[in-house]
Amino acid sequence: MEIKRVGVIGCGLMGSGIAQVSAMAGFDVVVLEAEQRFLDKGFAGIGKSLAKFAEKGTITEAPESVRARIKGTLKAEDLAASDIVIEAIIENVEEKKKMFARLDQAVRRDAIFATNTSSISVTEVMTATTRAERFIGLHFFNPVPLMKLVEVIRTIATDPKVMDTAVAFALRLGKVPVRTSDKTGFIVNRLLVPYMLDAIRAYEEGVGSISDIDLSMKFGCGHPMGPLTLLDFVGLDTTYYITHVMFDEFKERRFAAPALLKRMVLAGWYGRKSGKGFYDWSNAEKPVPQDAALRGELA
Ligand code: CAA
Ligand code: NAD
Repeated sequence: MEIKRVGVIGCGLMGSGIAQVSAMAGFDVVVLEAEQRFLDKGFAGIGKSLAKFAEKGTITEAPESVRARIKGTLKAEDLAASDIVIEAIIENVEEKKKMFARLDQAVRRDAIFATNTSSISVTEVMTATTRAERFIGLHFFNPVPLMKLVEVIRTIATDPKVMDTAVAFALRLGKVPVRTSDKTGFIVNRLLVPYMLDAIRAYEEGVGSISDIDLSMKFGCGHPMGPLTLLDFVGLDTTYYITHVMFDEFKERRFAAPALLKRMVLAGWYGRKSGKGFYDWSNAEKPVPQDAALRGELA
């Protein structure tokens, strides 16, 4: 099966990136959102990223012409002709199932359905549809325009030809696909999530300041960014939802949400996307560590 038209659900951090890289690879893209203001926000991010790529010569096509291949919509019916639909809405199993049940009615029968979930069972989300053999996980990494990996996840019901088509699609996007099975967290998050949560616990226990923890992993281990900065990039809300799913699956402390994470999410400190997390991102060039406020919480 040849993929020409891509449907994306959600135009947040991940959906906007997936729409962007699909359009950069020449696909026609339709992005579904819940509200126009979220489409506007996502498209603004796509515009900025394309401008950076054009400035650096990473893309030779004019940003406006890449952008013209992406259409935003608030109606699931506008995705009817998609060859593949990639869902990237909130990390909540009921919301994802509701969305896929709706898409199952609205989108052509032979389209491939993919979820970009970080942790939820792909098989469980698949049960909301009547196309088990055409259902997979396609797990992109943040920020999507820069991170090369895509985990391609099969369930026991996935047709092997659908896996091959999805791997070929990821290659067309210029990504590095790896095949994995539907085990909670797949490959990357099974290893990465306990590491990020442990960084929060280290901070809670007073092992170091926010910037000292981050500097340590950056300059001691050669990571591109420290774990607390990475949490602000991923989104503390999304990380918190991931901990629910992973702890529920494994019942191991390493996957449980640290108390501080819960409190930050309750306070609306979601990280870079909300302006504040472990750092204040008002000036994204110079994020300011929030030790003073967070130490108050821990005292
Ligand atoms: N689009 C286009 N260009 C961008 C961009 C974007 N969205 N974001 C940054 N850039 C450009 C910058 O302008 C910069 O360009 P120059 O070299 O010309 O200055 C270049 O990319 C590098 O950016 P920065 O200098 O700002 O920062 P950096 O060197 O640290 O690189 C990074 C940025 C690639 C994000 C790097 O920090 C990194 O790899 N971080 C780790 C990210 C990571 O681990 N992601 C996985 C998260 S987990 C996940 O996604 C799974 C899940 O389910 C939760
Ligand atoms: P986000 O909060 O940035 O974006 C989610 C978007 O989905 C929002 O714009 C929201 O308006 C939209 N949405 C919610 N319900 C909707 C509906 N019913 N119809 C249409 N749009 C709807 O979240 P995100 O970080 O982009 O995460 C999205 C998914 O990708 C999650 O499953 C997450 O676990 C996964 N993921 C996240 C990361 C990350 O680093 N943030 C990495 C890989 C995978």
